[in-house]
Amino acid sequence: MQKKHLVIAGIALLPLVNPPLVYATTAVEQLLVEYRSQGATEFTVEAGKELFFKEFVDAKSTQVRQCTTCHTDDLRQPGKHAKTGKRIDPLAPSVNPKSLMEIKNINKWLKRNCEWTIGRECTAQEKGDVLTFMQSQ
Ligand code: HEC
Repeated sequence: MQKKHLVIAGIALLPLVNPPLVYATTAVEQLLVEYRSQGATEFTVEAGKELFFKEFVDAKSTQVRQCTTCHTDDLRQPGKHAKTGKRIDPLAPSVNPKSLMEIKNINKWLKRNCEWTIGRECTAQEKGDVLTFMQSQ
């Protein structure tokens, strides 16, 4: 009887010891799982950083655009919207606890900002890399 209880307790504890990624709680972790299911592989801070700083030329205006155009080179600093001049709260979760908390918000801005900056939506791989970079800031 006692032995059986121990076995049951052991099985019940297993998910706590080694939680599968699908149980991850933060918005970014959930999104990374989703991107992997869409075929993305490993996400790295380096690849995300490269994309964040990469220069793209807008086909229509020939303007050079980067993520840093609005968010600046330092994610811990407030950004400034290139078109409206409005202040943007820092993206770095280390200084802005509200950053990267809501899946809906992240999806909305990634779509809009990739389209404006790169001229197309970001791929699952790009989104995962850039979020991994942002989260590290
Ligand atoms: C034209 C200006 C502009 C550019 C360029 C831009 N962003 Fe943004 N971004 C914003 C604004 C404005 C917000 C909303 C900030 C807020 O809600 O406080 C935002 C928010 C975000 C968010 C959501 C943050 C959160 O807490 O949910 C992500 C992710 C993001 N941007 C990523 C990027 C990436 C990646 C690029 C480059 C591909 C980029 N942005 C380029 C203006 C820009």
